[in-house]
Amino acid sequence: MDLRPHIRTIPDFPKPGILFYDISTLLAHPGAWKSAMEKLAERVRPYRPDVLAGIDSRGFLTAAPLALLLGCGFVMVRKKGKLPGPTIPHSYALEYGTDTLEIQADAVEPGQRVVLLDDLLATGGTAGAAVTLLRKVGAEVPALAVVMELAFLGGRARLDVPVESLVQYDS
Ligand code: PRP
Ligand code: MG
Repeated sequence: MDLRPHIRTIPDFPKPGILFYDISTLLAHPGAWKSAMEKLAERVRPYRPDVLAGIDSRGFLTAAPLALLLGCGFVMVRKKGKLPGPTIPHSYALEYGTDTLEIQADAVEPGQRVVLLDDLLATGGTAGAAVTLLRKVGAEVPALAVVMELAFLGGRARLDVPVESLVQYDS
């Protein structure tokens, strides 16, 4: 199934001049969403993950169902202040200011293979920070997998893990 017709674009969101690639319409279509998760499972299975990590918040939408399909666990990489108990943070630079991602200190066993999931790869800033955080807690990160890749923003080249994406946009 071609996923492209199920992904909606919305101009000038969240700011004027930005074209937003909206996963909502894909999620809302049961056949297309099932197909997307099955395709992603085929891409991710060869990396033999022990655990999938989803990035807060839209990465949870891809990581949790995929973990069920692959029969592995799912852990959350969250924005600052959302996770209880001991957490490990990683701060990273944004265009203006910084942001922080966190993971629970006991979410991953050292040496576990943790494939990272998100909905979309744009500049790669978020995914790169999540890879660094996962390595901080001793994970091996064999790959990042996303539904949509804004290839024209060059995120893939900024990451040191292989990237699996189902739909690529060149402009
Ligand atoms: C969006 C998207 C990715 C990230 C990609 O998340 O879901 O996580 O941006 O951008 P980048 O490759 O340039 O870092 P956002 O921060 O908007 O938050 P959300 O997932 O909570 O909606
Ligand atoms: Mg996100």
